[in-house]
Amino acid sequence: MAFPQTRMRRLRASADLRGLVRETELSPARLVLPMFVAEPLSGREAIATMPGVDRLSISAAVSEAEQAAALGLAAVMLFGVPADKDELGSGAWDEEGIVQMAVRAIKQARPDLLVITDVCLCEYTSHGHCGVLGEGGAVDNDATVELLARTAVSHARAGADLIAPSDMMDGRVGAIRRELDADGFSEIPILAYSAKFASAFYGPFREAAGSTPAFGDRRSYQMDPANGREAVREALLDVEEGADMVMVKPALGYGDVIAAVKAATRLPVAAYNVSGEYAMVKAAAVAGQLDERSAVLEILTSLRRAGAEVVISYHAKDAARWLTEQT
Ligand code: PBG
Repeated sequence: MAFPQTRMRRLRASADLRGLVRETELSPARLVLPMFVAEPLSGREAIATMPGVDRLSISAAVSEAEQAAALGLAAVMLFGVPADKDELGSGAWDEEGIVQMAVRAIKQARPDLLVITDVCLCEYTSHGHCGVLGEGGAVDNDATVELLARTAVSHARAGADLIAPSDMMDGRVGAIRRELDADGFSEIPILAYSAKFASAFYGPFREAAGSTPAFGDRRSYQMDPANGREAVREALLDVEEGADMVMVKPALGYGDVIAAVKAATRLPVAAYNVSGEYAMVKAAAVAGQLDERSAVLEILTSLRRAGAEVVISYHAKDAARWLTEQT
């Protein structure tokens, strides 16, 4: 006699049966590889806090992008690490800036690979905040929004396929949309970092990008990890302002937010499996406490299950290799 159908025992009996009834698919085409492009640099430079991830020169970034394309990844996402920083973060919108040059070089080498650019000022400001400082040292939201829009247009002009503002200023998605439209880039979509939480898990990234705030923290513009409903409100505002896709970040502890944002916006959702989440798994793997391959594939699958169409991960290349071997 049968055991209850809900136990699924018969359907778990072989890999083929399990594959047949699997609810969530993970494939390289859903994964995005973040990359740090740095100047001045030749070749690669290891990032101490993120073993296995390097800061890249432009030519190293091109070969990394070629690898990403060969592995079938959906896209690469670029972060700039400029040689010089100033109060305003003017390197962010420099037509000859590090990201603008890298986008041109990558698109020339691989026109078929999607290039996403992160739009923020924190890698370019001398104080490390995501915007310009006003009276009393607080970030001036509206002055920052203008500079972000200028940055977005410079990325589009360089050939970026998708613009991803990560600064969390109010009104920046609308401002970026207007500027892109005004400059003839009405077809370039915006992936808004809508629900970006003030997280301890960005620590390794800040080391990688040299963007640790010189004073204070980001809690006046990034969200409180305690707030899920607020994440939905933030996402809906970005949708109203013209976001084409929305992002939830970090990812691991935020499956509920991914599901809620997806249900409320009905837009494609990206989950950012951030630097600290990467570093945590790496450290445990190096110490022999976790099997890296199965841990990573489980994490990425769970983010897809939570509702993310797209997963951004420093493990993207490894995952693509493991997924291809698996078949
Ligand atoms: C820029 C930005 C950050 C990350 C992505 N864009 C850092 C931050 O907000 O401090 C973090 C990504 C990661 O940790 O992998 N604002």
